[in-house]
Amino acid sequence: MAWLITGGAGYIGSHVVSDFQGAGLSVVVLDDLSSGLAKRVPKDVPLVKLDIRNTDEVAKVMRENSIQGVVHLAAKKAVGESVEQPLMYYDQNVGGVISLLTAMAEANVYNLVYSSSAAVYGSPGVAHVNEASPNRPESPYGETKLIGEWLIKAQAAATELKAVSLRYFNVVGAGDETLGDTSVNNLVPLIFSALENASAPKVFGDDYPTADGTCIRDYIDVRDLSGAHVRAMQWLENSATDYEVFNVGRGVGVSVKEMMQVARKATNIEFEYEVVGRRPGDPAQLVGQVENAHRDLKWQAKFGVDEMVTSAWQAWRAAHD
Ligand code: WQD
Repeated sequence: MAWLITGGAGYIGSHVVSDFQGAGLSVVVLDDLSSGLAKRVPKDVPLVKLDIRNTDEVAKVMRENSIQGVVHLAAKKAVGESVEQPLMYYDQNVGGVISLLTAMAEANVYNLVYSSSAAVYGSPGVAHVNEASPNRPESPYGETKLIGEWLIKAQAAATELKAVSLRYFNVVGAGDETLGDTSVNNLVPLIFSALENASAPKVFGDDYPTADGTCIRDYIDVRDLSGAHVRAMQWLENSATDYEVFNVGRGVGVSVKEMMQVARKATNIEFEYEVVGRRPGDPAQLVGQVENAHRDLKWQAKFGVDEMVTSAWQAWRAAHD
């Protein structure tokens, strides 16, 4: 028996592969390598290069590998790109979930951990969001993540499927130098990229209604996030309910300006940043209430922002020097 990790050649997926192996589980990676890297997949892990929307082939992989459960991370995740190409995002992310659920039903696979996102909350207008907070996604990316949750919840209610959706907050860091985030879409890699080009990292607006005027987010180390997937898998094995959703963050808000100071310490570069205009769609604050994960998944984040940015910087240097 083994677990199928879709997107397992990706930044977060490769950490999940490592942690599932560490928990004594056999794993198989399914990835189309459109952004994942084959070199991230351990030599003893089968890598199946396949588009998740190829339902019949996905079901065949499940049967041939005696798959007992799936962690579904394979998706497009760039918010800006989703605004420019909504149909591609719906096809990949929503079409991908429909295809995966269909393949699982055909192959009699009944356990699923789904990679969702805090983007489902949009601009909540409250300091902290819990799992019952209104879902008002503000990008096609966030919409596709929420629709994926709906599809999985409905399929769990209609069949023997048991599933958990994990709403990721802002992921930073690297478990080792080879597992860094190579997509330069988010704050920390963008800071490093600016420093590498001898330009000033940008702060998207300092006129928000927050203590220092910059946006506040819930940054979580990828190592902690990955560990939450193991706990979610264990929850599935013992849970009486067929579906649950959990926020996965630290529950602590950190502003952009504070992250700039953390990055100065981690890089040992006393850089100046440049304040520019707000980025459309950015909520002033998005921080998770994470008590449910603590209670039900028996999971808690361990790493702080210094450790996550330092590990990210070490991986960045290893990939860029
Ligand atoms: C963080 C903060 C920016 C870059 C998105 C997705 C979310 C998740 C994480 C997948 C914001 C500010 C950024 C820069 C800046 N992805 N910023 N200068 O937008 O909070 O969340 O990525 O699940 O779903 O929505 O992350 O890293 O883009 O921005 O000032 O050069 O940093 O305004 O306040 P975001 P981010």
